Amino acid sequence: MTGFHKLSRDEKIKKIKALSGLDESDMKSLEGPLDASVAEMMSENVIGTVKLPFGIAVNFVINGRKYLIPMCIEEPSVVAAASNAAKLALPCGFRAECSQPVMIGQVQLVGISDTNKARESILSGISTIKKLANGRDSVMVKLGGGLEDVEVRLIGSSRGPMVVVHLIVNVVDAMGANCVNSMCEAVAPYLEEVTGGRAVLKIISNLADRRLAAAAAVWKKDVIGEDVIEGILDAYELARVDAYRCATNNKGIMNGVDAVAIATGNDFRALEAGAHAYAAIGRYRPLAEYEKNSEGDLVGRLKMPLAVGIVGGATKTNPVARTSLKILGVKSASELACVMACVGLANNFAALRAIVSEGIQRGHMKLHAKNIAMSAGASHEEAVSVSTKMIEDKKISVSHAKKILEEMRK
Ligand code: MEV
Repeated sequence: MTGFHKLSRDEKIKKIKALSGLDESDMKSLEGPLDASVAEMMSENVIGTVKLPFGIAVNFVINGRKYLIPMCIEEPSVVAAASNAAKLALPCGFRAECSQPVMIGQVQLVGISDTNKARESILSGISTIKKLANGRDSVMVKLGGGLEDVEVRLIGSSRGPMVVVHLIVNVVDAMGANCVNSMCEAVAPYLEEVTGGRAVLKIISNLADRRLAAAAAVWKKDVIGEDVIEGILDAYELARVDAYRCATNNKGIMNGVDAVAIATGNDFRALEAGAHAYAAIGRYRPLAEYEKNSEGDLVGRLKMPLAVGIVGGATKTNPVARTSLKILGVKSASELACVMACVGLANNFAALRAIVSEGIQRGHMKLHAKNIAMSAGASHEEAVSVSTKMIEDKKISVSHAKKILEEMRK
């Protein structure tokens, strides 16, 4: 995909259409706004829809397969950075793997005096709990998912002891919130009956620490340079020991992860909650780590919860999400999670590389210059010349763009 970014928009569309086998209705989903009637089914008091740029990250080779990756994001540089990091990792690209698509549902029981006895009663009723939970989602069970296990935690609190039941559910290709929440509600009356307690919360946990995706890549020293490697290791070390830096570091990872989540209709708030809660287990730490291998090349590894689906929710109702999944060509939610982990790692590497070498602003502002030119009133065509001139002048601001525009129009 060398030179993809230099193609015109029409040429890019033509290429992606051919490579992904998109049909006219897929193309339509990318052009127009979300149909108002569809939007109204998804949310309430709808009076419009938001449009975001829909870009394609290229050059990704993951587990030996090539991927085109749709990303929806308003921030300049993110798609370019992911594509560039992926290119620098070639020819091997990324390795990625994922644990089973297992989510946790919580049922909180209060008002129990003998919590040990309650735990025993719950554990001896696992087969009944399974029957009640799986009765809520026969399709998932047919597909090999459903309630797999039950765990009981006893938690002391200022409001007295609590018994918290964890339902461990294989949600197959769904994100899983609907199914897990229904299961929690279905088993709550039985749990109340066998424990004598009162069920308060019955809800999924977004700390999806049983549903982890891992990605790894090697960036060779003769490709990125030894100084850059040393710089990245220094920058990574600061993120490891300092929460102020770590938050920004992890934000860079979520730039990529969320952009794919939005393109594929996934719940990016759930991903954010899960990612940061996971990063904060013990002490808040970077989601990706770096080291030098014996050849002196840079090895990056990322591990994080990625509760994403390819069926149900907006992945089904939003036509853009369906088109994105077609472009990705993923066959399972786990494969999508693997792809997203690689994009997160790519964006983290790209941000670190830019920060420790030329600085983030040069590339960022170059792309941002076009936005600035348009805010100064330039048409789409004028924006290209205005932004080029601003970069030449090393002065990127709305006032300077206005000045150039005035001169140009004269
Ligand atoms: C900006 O959206 C993300 C970065 O701040 C990430 C980082 O600092 O690693 C560039």
